[in-house]
Amino acid sequence: KMNQFINELMKKMTLEEKIGQLNLVSVGFDVTGPVVSKDVDAKIRKGLVGGVLNTYTPVAARKLQEMAVKESRLHIPLILGYDVIHGHRTIFPIPLGLAASWDLAAMERSAHIAGQEAAADGVNWVYSPMVDIARDPRWGRVAEGAGEDPYLGSRIAEAMVRGYQGADLTNPANVMACLKHFALYGAAEAGRDYNTTDMSLQRMYNEYLPPYKAAVEAGVGSVMSSFNDINGVPATGNKWLMTDLLRNQWGFKGFVATDYTAINELIPHGLGDEKQVSAIALTAGIDMDMVGEVFLKNLAQNLKEGTVKQADIDLACRRILEGKYKLGLFKDPYRGVSEKRAKATLMKPEFIEAARDVARRSMVLLKNDKNTLPLKKSGTIAVVGPLADRARDMIGNWSGAGEGKQAISILQGLKNVAGNGVKFTYAQGANVTDDEQMIARLNAHGGELALDKRTPEAMIQEAVQAAQAADVVVAVVGESQGMTGEAASRADISLPGRQLDLLKALKKLGKPLVIVLVNGRPLTLPWENQNADAMLETWFGGTQAGNAVADVLFGNYNPAGKLTMTFPQVVGQVPIYYNHRNTGRPFAGEQLDKYKSRYLDVTNDPLYPFGYGLSYTTFSYSKPELSKATLRTGDTQEVRVTVKNTGNYDGEEVAQLYIRDMVGSITRPVQELKGFQKVMLKKGESRTLTFRLTPDDLKFYNADLKFVSEPGAFQVMVGGNSRDVQQASFTLE
Ligand code: IFM
Repeated sequence: KMNQFINELMKKMTLEEKIGQLNLVSVGFDVTGPVVSKDVDAKIRKGLVGGVLNTYTPVAARKLQEMAVKESRLHIPLILGYDVIHGHRTIFPIPLGLAASWDLAAMERSAHIAGQEAAADGVNWVYSPMVDIARDPRWGRVAEGAGEDPYLGSRIAEAMVRGYQGADLTNPANVMACLKHFALYGAAEAGRDYNTTDMSLQRMYNEYLPPYKAAVEAGVGSVMSSFNDINGVPATGNKWLMTDLLRNQWGFKGFVATDYTAINELIPHGLGDEKQVSAIALTAGIDMDMVGEVFLKNLAQNLKEGTVKQADIDLACRRILEGKYKLGLFKDPYRGVSEKRAKATLMKPEFIEAARDVARRSMVLLKNDKNTLPLKKSGTIAVVGPLADRARDMIGNWSGAGEGKQAISILQGLKNVAGNGVKFTYAQGANVTDDEQMIARLNAHGGELALDKRTPEAMIQEAVQAAQAADVVVAVVGESQGMTGEAASRADISLPGRQLDLLKALKKLGKPLVIVLVNGRPLTLPWENQNADAMLETWFGGTQAGNAVADVLFGNYNPAGKLTMTFPQVVGQVPIYYNHRNTGRPFAGEQLDKYKSRYLDVTNDPLYPFGYGLSYTTFSYSKPELSKATLRTGDTQEVRVTVKNTGNYDGEEVAQLYIRDMVGSITRPVQELKGFQKVMLKKGESRTLTFRLTPDDLKFYNADLKFVSEPGAFQVMVGGNSRDVQQASFTLE
C-alpha cells in the first residue's frame, strides 16, 4: 500500500520537487552551525523543503504544515524535527545520567514521555538516541550518550527507540527516532569535537558499532550522519558506512539525514567543491541535507553532468516520503496537534513525578564515610557552591523546550524536602569558572552563565561564614550546563575555577563535608575523593533535579545509580575504560617493575571504575556458580549468584556479569559486560539471581570480521561494579 501510494505520488513530482524533499531547513534558533536557512516560507510553498527543524508549539507547527499541505503544488506534508534529547518540556537527567540508572524501563518511559510531549507540541521526529560510545571525558558530548560500554549502550539504544516510536508510528502520540551520530563520533581524537576518527575494523565492529546496530534492529526510523571522518573518509560522504554497512549488512530501511551542514563540511574535509561533495554525499547514501542546501543547489546540475543518477535522487526522495508515510502524515499532517492537547500533555503531573523518579535513579553515590548521608532533617545545613541555586543548569544541555525557570534548584529542593526542622544558610562561594573568555563564548550561545565580579577570596569567605554555624556543609559544585554537550570539550576535567579552593576552605572548618556534583562528564576528583565525607554525583538532573537530589540526601530514596563511564585519577590516563585489552606486559601493581604497561607517576587504576556506585546499605555477593563446566552449541550456561542486603536500609543493587575470553585469535578485552539485573532487596533479604549465557553471547568479530565464538577457557565475573567481582571459569567446546 505504501509503495503504491508513493509510486503514484512520485510520478507527479518534478525533479525540483523531488530534490526539495531532500532539503531539511532550520527556522533559525538553536543554531549549532554557521548557516541559518533563508526564505523558508517561500521554499515550502514551492515544494522545495522536505522537513523543518527547530520549530515547535502547535501554532508554529500548524502554520508550517498548512503552508506545505495547502499551498505547495503536491500538498506533501513536512517532517518536523527537533532535538528532544532527554525530554521535551519535562526534562529528565542528561543521557549519561539516565544510563547510570541501569534501568531500561525507566529510560524507555522517559523517552516515551518526551515523545508524547514533543508530539503534542507539533514535533514528529526527534534527534535521539545518541548512542556514540565514548571513552574520552574531555569530549563534551559524553553527556549525551550512554557511556563507554557497547552491551549496555545497545540495550539503552533499543529501549530509547521503543520509548519514542512505540509499537505504531502512525499513533500521533509517538514520534520517529533518529539514531545518531553515525558513526564513531564519540571516538574523536583527543576528545576534541568534530575531530578525526581512525580505528581498526575489529575495534569498530566489537566495541563501537553494536549500539547503532541494536537501534537499527529495534526499528529506528531514521539515522543522522556524523561530522567526523572515519579512516580518512568523512561519515557524511562514506559509501561503505551509509550503504554497505548500514543498509546492505544491517538491513536499515529508513532514511539518513546529515548532521547540521555536514555536506558543506565535506569541503574543508578536503573532498572537493560544493558540486562534488553534493554528488559524493548522495551516492554515499545520504537522503536528507540538514540546513546546508547543498542538494537543493547542486543535484540538478549533478544529474546533468552524470555525477549522480536519477535513480539516486528517486531513492532518497522515496525514503523520505516513506518516513512521512510511516508517521501517518499523509493521512493527518497535523497529527492531531492542538493547543488544548499541548496544554493537557506538557508537564502534566505524572510526567513531573516521573522526572523526579528517574532523576533519583540516575544519581551515583561515590563516597559515604561514617554514614554521613543520609542527612538528618534537623539542625543547620549550609548549602554553598556556584551550582546550588542555579535552576537553569539543572536541565542541562540540549534541553529541548525545557524552561530553566521551571526547574527546581538544589537549594530549593532541599528546602522543599527538609520540612520545618532544618535551618538553611546559603552562599555561592565561587563562580563556576572565572575564565571570562570561556564565559563570553558560552553566553554567546545561550550559556546563561553569570560572573560574580567579587574577588574569589571574598566569595569563599562569605561561604565559610555561612558554614560556620552549620552542622553539616553541602557543597554543590561542578560544571555549568554549557560546559558540556556539543562544542564543549575540556582539556582539563577537574572542577573549574576556584571551586576546589572553596572546598578546601570549607574542609578546614572540620564539619562533615558533603560534595554534590553537578556535571556532564567524568571529572578528575582526587582531592575531593580524599577529603569529602560524602560525595554524590547528580549530573544535570532535569526539571525535578533539586527535589530528586534532596530525596537522596535526606534518605527518602536510597541511591542505586552506577557509573557508565570510568572516572580517571588524572586526565593523562585518558582514554581509560574497563574493557581494555591485556597487553603483553600487563601491570598488576608491582612496585619496582618498570617495564610494564604503566605510568611512572600514577597507577593504571581509575578513581572510580565502570559500574561503580554505593548505596546507603551494603550488599554481599556469593561466588558465582555455573551450571556447566563445559558449554556446547545449543547449551545455556546458567550463572547463579546470591546477593544479600547486609546493611541497614532497603535498597536496589545493579548486579553485573562480565566475561573474559581467555584465549582468542585476536586479543580480547579483560572484561566485557554481558548482563545485569537491578533488584530491590529489603534490609537483610537475599536473592539468588540467574544470568544466562549462550555460545552466541561469547561471539566477537574476528580478524576476517566473522562473528564467531572460539572454543577455549572463559572467565565469568559477577559483582556490584567492574572492579569488585568474584570469578568462576568454564570451557567453550
Ligand atoms: O541533532 C543535532 C546534532 O546532535 C548536532 N548538530 C545539530 C543537530 C540538529 O540540531
